[in-house]
Amino acid sequence: MSAADLPEGYDISADPTRLNLDVIHGFISQSYWAKGMPKALVEKMVRHSLGFGVYHHAEQVGFARVVTDKTTFAYLADVFVLPEHRGKGLSKALVEEVLAYPDLQGLRRWMLVTADAQSLYERFGFKAVAHPERHMEIHRPGLYEGV
Ligand SMILES: CC(C)(COP(=O)(O)OP(=O)(O)OC[C@H]1O[C@@H](n2cnc3c(N)ncnc32)[C@H](O)[C@@H]1OP(=O)(O)O)[C@@H](O)C(=O)NCCC(=O)NCCS
Repeated sequence: MSAADLPEGYDISADPTRLNLDVIHGFISQSYWAKGMPKALVEKMVRHSLGFGVYHHAEQVGFARVVTDKTTFAYLADVFVLPEHRGKGLSKALVEEVLAYPDLQGLRRWMLVTADAQSLYERFGFKAVAHPERHMEIHRPGLYEGV
């Protein structure tokens, strides 16, 4: 499904002024990957990212953000659809919209991390890293839970 044929009443937008920080913080601070993240940090993170919202009659019901130089690299993060709106193809339309965004064309590398949604992203060409031994990270799980 593309954003052009979303279910009735839904739309997807990259307009930062439409993003609802209460909705984004409400979900992210309960997520398995950023549990306990304070609202001030969510606001800062969104402000410095390219954010995409999914809206149902103008109420935000989904989100994704991209950390990027808009030239060579982009990191797709914090993809979610609120539970009551799942199973309608919204996340597929959202990822499609993100990947088609004009400022994000011709990049050399896209990355993301997911515990269990690999098949969502595989349909758009994402694959497990070919050479994990070349990838390095500093990762601080539980940072916002004080553990
Ligand atoms: C994952 C999530 C965004 C899917 O949203 P959605 O709008 O219900 O998904 P869609 O209706 O667009 O369908 C998603 C497709 O990916 C597949 N999929 C793969 N992994 C999935 C997962 N962990 N959860 C849901 N669907 C998943 C579905 O089976 C479906 O494929 P299909 O159309 O061939 O059946 C939503 O379940 C969610 O917000 N989950 C909690 C947050 C999360 O885990 N985000 C991903 C972090 S990387």
